[in-house]
Amino acid sequence: MPANCSPKERDSPMRALALHGGPKARTRPWPAAGPRFGREELKHLREALAQNTLFYTQGRKTRQLCARMARLCGVPCVVPCSSGSAAIHAAVKACGVGPGDEVITSPITDAGTILGVVYEGAIPVFADIDPAAYNITAGSIAQRITPRTRAVIVVHLAGCPADMEPIVALCRRRKLKLIEDCAQAWGARLNGRWVGSFGTFGCFSLNDFKQISCGDGGLVVTRDKALYRHAWLAADKCYDRLGGTRAMEFVAPNYRITELQSAVALAQLGKLPRIARRRHELGERLAAGLRRIPGVIPHHVPRGGYATYWFYLIQLVPAVLGVDVVTFAQAVQAEGIPVRKGYVDPVYLAYPYLQRRSAFNHSDWPFGAAHVVPPYRKGYCPNAETVIANCLFFPLNEWLSAREVDDTLAAIRKVSEHYRSRRPSGSDARKRCSC
Ligand SMILES: Cc1ncc(COP(=O)(O)O)c(C=O)c1O
Repeated sequence: MPANCSPKERDSPMRALALHGGPKARTRPWPAAGPRFGREELKHLREALAQNTLFYTQGRKTRQLCARMARLCGVPCVVPCSSGSAAIHAAVKACGVGPGDEVITSPITDAGTILGVVYEGAIPVFADIDPAAYNITAGSIAQRITPRTRAVIVVHLAGCPADMEPIVALCRRRKLKLIEDCAQAWGARLNGRWVGSFGTFGCFSLNDFKQISCGDGGLVVTRDKALYRHAWLAADKCYDRLGGTRAMEFVAPNYRITELQSAVALAQLGKLPRIARRRHELGERLAAGLRRIPGVIPHHVPRGGYATYWFYLIQLVPAVLGVDVVTFAQAVQAEGIPVRKGYVDPVYLAYPYLQRRSAFNHSDWPFGAAHVVPPYRKGYCPNAETVIANCLFFPLNEWLSAREVDDTLAAIRKVSEHYRSRRPSGSDARKRCSC
């Protein structure tokens, strides 16, 4: 038992934290990830190779992938591309975003959300998140709209749908294009509709870490036939593969997918319903247990939402727990649960190229030319900063069982009880908080 252990902890070994030498809440090893790729992927890959072409418009796999995605998502037009970042960039370009424009998005996300915005010479503007749902809201977006706002990119963080209906209404009213970043939200739904089907565009990632994967890949979905063509051009050097000409109406990168990626993605789409259901069930079980632990806040999902938890964020209230987040995380890890601190900073503080205006060589473009650069400083999105400071990242995946979730709850409950029992009784924070 370590020297810093109190006499009380030594005297009650069953309640002592594993961090202090007590027994662990979970002693068995954490399960490894199971196989993701198998017979179905091989079958589609063999068929792709047998076509004697791997070009995405010459073979059948990409066409089948797009048709299947359209059916699942309930949106008629699908543009295939090489990554989620490429999908968002193509959508941003198709929305008419250009130099001097502003695009409002979430401060907790991946670099791929804003990459296309900055490449098009526009300025990313960050709206604050809902403090329990971790997504931007109609209210927080409205506060950031200026005459230069062209589009909004909503991120469905961790597979939890944002509250889309008020956001759609706001964007309609203010004539803004709406892009949904669904990179982390495969299979997530709101009132029975897939995320990605609410906005002008929905963008999905097939990178190796997502619910489903083909190594790397991306899909853009839209109902708008004119913008569909524009997004397709934006993802393929402005070659008009739909019309069969070289359009060259604007400059665009090569963001093409290949038939090999599409073959794997097609098989993975077949597995998605099972994967999404499993992640949903495990996440809901965790949420139900967390609700009963004081000082801990589960991920809030809006009414009618169906979350497919790419990961699970557990928010702590240090004032109620009487301990800082890093120590709490270490104590839960010592109990045998692989939680960790997740995002370190909101995007506007984390990215040196935003801080230093160094996105492009030899230039402060596009920030130097902007009408107003938003204040990428502490305090810009207070909810996001608080959530990031207080959140634990739980690596939820479809290979876990109810046992792992229950052990996680037991460990968190034990650590929470331990630190709360050591707080001075009747402290202000405990009286105030209703968690
Ligand atoms: C929210 C979000 N948006 C965009 C991306 C970019 O996707 P990709 O890595 O496929 O470019 C990611 C990837 O991690 C993501 O999580």
